[in-house]
Amino acid sequence: MLADVGCGRGGPGIWVARETGARLVGIDVVAGAVADAARRSVELGPLLGPLDARFRVGGFTATGLADGSCAAVMSVDALWMVWDKEAAVAEVARVLEPGGRFVVTSWETPGVDHAALLTAGGFTVEEKVETPDWLDRQLAVYAGMLAHENELVAEMGAEAAAVVLAEARETPPRLPSTPRVLVAATLAAR
Ligand SMILES: C[S@@+](CC[C@H](N)C(=O)[O-])C[C@H]1O[C@@H](n2cnc3c(N)ncnc32)[C@H](O)[C@@H]1O
Repeated sequence: MLADVGCGRGGPGIWVARETGARLVGIDVVAGAVADAARRSVELGPLLGPLDARFRVGGFTATGLADGSCAAVMSVDALWMVWDKEAAVAEVARVLEPGGRFVVTSWETPGVDHAALLTAGGFTVEEKVETPDWLDRQLAVYAGMLAHENELVAEMGAEAAAVVLAEARETPPRLPSTPRVLVAATLAAR
């Protein structure tokens, strides 16, 4: 089984499950995102072909998955939001089978080194890269959001749009000091 932790509305996990044929469980703390992801996986069925996917509410430090139940865990851009990253890595190690893989993308704020974090948590780091063009792509997303404020408000509602528009305004100056990285690591056999 593949777990996508911090799955949001499900896109990346659904894509990887389709590409690999893996059974997918998506987990997120936000119930609305989990419901959207479940709906999308059904709606995309006719386009993508059969998909064995389920989605549930849970957290990085308490996924609700059984010990050793996953061959792989992925997480796209969610770990930066977790205060206790050591506990999150320990939870990933708990749910992985021996030799299982963890692939994660996130931003590194000063003092956070994901390779060191994973090594301390019992993983062997295979690869750590700064993802290509991440800064230009992220700035383009923020510019696009600010250019379409009215559409965002109409689609999301004023309150939710205000949160993401504030992020689009305030984050760009800080981005260059927070590289976005991808780390692939394997859990040592127990
Ligand atoms: C930037 S979004 C990325 C969503 C998705 N992975 C994607 O790439 O489309 C970050 C996600 O992490 C989730 N998240 C934040 N804290 C979390 C936690 N402690 N445990 C699980 N998910 C969390 C948020 O609810 C949000 O859906």
